[in-house]
Amino acid sequence: MNKDIKVSVSILSADFARLGDEIKKCEDAGVDIIHIDVMDGHFVPNITIGPVIIESVKPYTKIPLDAHLMIENPDMYIETFTKSGADIITVHAECYGELKPFSKGRNKFPKEIEKINPEKVRKDLNKIKKSGAKAAIALNPGTPLCIQDVLNDVDMVLIMSVNPGFAGQAFMDSVLPKIEALRKIYKGDIAVDGGINNETAKKAVQAGANILATASFFFKSKDPKETIKSLKRLKG
Ligand code: DX5
Ligand code: ZN
Repeated sequence: MNKDIKVSVSILSADFARLGDEIKKCEDAGVDIIHIDVMDGHFVPNITIGPVIIESVKPYTKIPLDAHLMIENPDMYIETFTKSGADIITVHAECYGELKPFSKGRNKFPKEIEKINPEKVRKDLNKIKKSGAKAAIALNPGTPLCIQDVLNDVDMVLIMSVNPGFAGQAFMDSVLPKIEALRKIYKGDIAVDGGINNETAKKAVQAGANILATASFFFKSKDPKETIKSLKRLKG
């Protein structure tokens, strides 16, 4: 795999009282994508930010904005997110299949499925693309590679390497075989999200990922420019 590595920085670990400066920090450091972790307290056990933040960030930067929607019923919000300025919209596969019994219902996390309904996903992916944004699909760590039927319909696949909900969790090595299997059948962009640092990024890239999403590793860095450079230096 000889794709260049791109870095997507999640503002989840930014100082929201100084968001403009934090975006500038991303610009100066050479970040490729700004990742917006949208959580609704239903799909994941946390509530974060939404379209108003995207709207505020948009005029500050030309870096593409990726809305990572960790929300139930993403179809209801696709237009709102593109209108607010999202260039990429990432929906979760778990919203398009029968949830495993343990993850069904209120307050049951992480959400996991075995199979997706390809027609249902395709409908939303097309809706995203029609609205002018790029469409991506995300898989939680415990959801197997079940998106083969829609790989032609997506611009990117996001493999979660932590159970979604919070920044600062440890990278799960158990997702590496899924990245390898996906890389064998998919030539497009594979992003990995959760617990990325220099060591875990190396493993993710070796497995076939070419986009690294990070929140805490970037915002805790004393030298953000070097952090981005060191991640981009990795090769698969
Ligand atoms: C997890 C989010 C991730 C998270 C990454 O629910 O989707 O994007 O913010 O945070 P770090 O890089 O700190 O694991
Ligand atoms: Zn994310």
